Amino acid sequence: MARFTLPRDLYHGKGALEALKTLEGKRAIVCVGGGSMKRFGFLDKAVSYLKEAGMEVELFEGIESDPSVETVMKGAAAMEKFQPDWIVAIGGGSPIDAAKAMWIKYEYPEVTFEDMCKVFGLPKLRTKAHFCAISSTSGTATEVTAFSIITDYQKGIKYPIADFEITPDVAIVDPELAETMPKKLVAHTGMDAMTHAVEAYVSTANCDFTDPLALHAIKMIQNDLVDSYNGDMEKRDSMHNAQCLAGMAFSNALLGIVHSMAHKTGAAFADYGAHIIHGAANAMYLPKVIAFNAKDETAKKRYGVIADFMGLGGSNDDEKVQLLIKYLRHMNDELNIPHCIKQYGADSYPTENGFVPENVFLERLPEIAKNAIGDACTGSNPRQPSQEEMEKLLKCCYYDTEVDF
Ligand SMILES: NC(=O)c1ccc[n+]([C@@H]2O[C@H](COP(=O)([O-])OP(=O)(O)OC[C@H]3O[C@@H](n4cnc5c(N)ncnc54)[C@H](O)[C@@H]3O)[C@@H](O)[C@H]2O)c1
Ligand SMILES: [Zn+2]
Repeated sequence: MARFTLPRDLYHGKGALEALKTLEGKRAIVCVGGGSMKRFGFLDKAVSYLKEAGMEVELFEGIESDPSVETVMKGAAAMEKFQPDWIVAIGGGSPIDAAKAMWIKYEYPEVTFEDMCKVFGLPKLRTKAHFCAISSTSGTATEVTAFSIITDYQKGIKYPIADFEITPDVAIVDPELAETMPKKLVAHTGMDAMTHAVEAYVSTANCDFTDPLALHAIKMIQNDLVDSYNGDMEKRDSMHNAQCLAGMAFSNALLGIVHSMAHKTGAAFADYGAHIIHGAANAMYLPKVIAFNAKDETAKKRYGVIADFMGLGGSNDDEKVQLLIKYLRHMNDELNIPHCIKQYGADSYPTENGFVPENVFLERLPEIAKNAIGDACTGSNPRQPSQEEMEKLLKCCYYDTEVDF
C-alpha cells in the first residue's frame, strides 16, 4: 500500500493571501524570516487578515536561512507560552521548515530533535494547532510537502524531517509574494524545482498520482524559468505554481541522489567560503546523475518520456537522454549557474577558479561520498551507487567530466 497526501486546502492566484481571513481559531502565531516579508508589506497584510478572522496574533520573527535546531527550540518555547491553535509560516523554505519542526516540539515537548529525524516516525499532530504555510520563493514547495530541513551546526549536517504529519493543513500559493525575489534566488529555487520534478518522475516510489504532477511541472519550468529569471513577471507567477506541482510530486514520490549529493556537499566546504547553494548544487549535479541513472533501463525509458514531453526530439532513448542532458546544461548557462564545483564562484556565478581547491575536494571526497550514500534520498534513486561509483560521480561533478560508468 502506498499513501498520497497533500494539504486539505490550497489557495492560489494573486491575492490568495486573503484566504487567511477564513481560518477559524483563537490565537495564531506567525513565523517569519529575516525581513523580506516585512519590507514588502506581506507580513502586515497577513497579520491584519488574521485579526479580521478574529484571532489574537503573535509574531516569531528572525528565522535564519538554513534554520538551526536552536531556533526550532526557541520557537517551540514561544508557542508553549502563547498556546496558538494556528501556526502560520510565511516566507521561503527556511521559516516554513523551521515552523514545521517547532510545531512538532510544541505538540510533544518531550520529543527530541533526534526523535524528529526518525523517518515517518512522528506521533499524531494537530492536538494543539493546525498549520498554514505561505511560500515566498518558487522552489522548495515546503507549503505542500511532508519535509522540513533543519541544520545541526555543531555537526555541520542538514537533517531532513520526513512525515506526512507535517504536511500543512492549508497552503497559500500567492504569486505576488514571489515577484520580489532577486534574480539569483529565482535561478536557484527554479532549478531546485526542476530537480524535484525530474527526480520524482524517475524515483522508485513514483506512481500514477505523482507522474502527471511531475511531468506538468517539468514542462512549465521549461517554458517559464529562464524568462522569469530575465524579469518576465507573468512567467514568474507561473513558476510559483510549477514549483508547487513539483512539490506535490516529490512529497509523495520522494527524490534521488542529486539531492543526496547536494545535501552532503552544501556545507562541506564552508571553511573555504563555499556554501554551495542548494538549488545551484542540484543544477550542477542533475545532468551528471541523469547520465549515471540512465544505465538503468527503467530510468532510461522514463528520462525518454520526459524528453518527449519537453519536445526535445531524438529517435531512441539513448539520444533522448543526451538531449535532456544538453537542454538542462543549456538552462544552467542561461541562468548563469556553472557546470561543476571547480567553477563555483561567489553567488554561484561561474568562474575559472572557484572556492573549492582541488586538493581539499579530493581529501574530503571519501567522507562526502559515504554521507551521500547514507542520505535519506538515496533509497528511492533508481540506481544504487557503490562507494566507488559515488566517488567517481562526485569527481565528474567537480571537474565537469563525462559520466561513462
Ligand atoms: N521542506 C522541503 O521540502 C525543502 C525542499 C528543498 C529545500 N528545503 C530547504 O529550504 C531552505 C531554502 O529555502 P529557500 O530556497 O526558499 O530560501 P530561504 O527561505 O532560505 O530564503 C533565502 C533568502 O531569500 C529571502 N527571500 C525569501 N523570499 C523572498 C522574496 N519573495 N523576496 C525577496 N527576498 C526573499 C529570504 O529573506 C532569505 O534571505 C533550505 O534550508 C533547504 O534545505 C526544504
Ligand atoms: Zn530541493
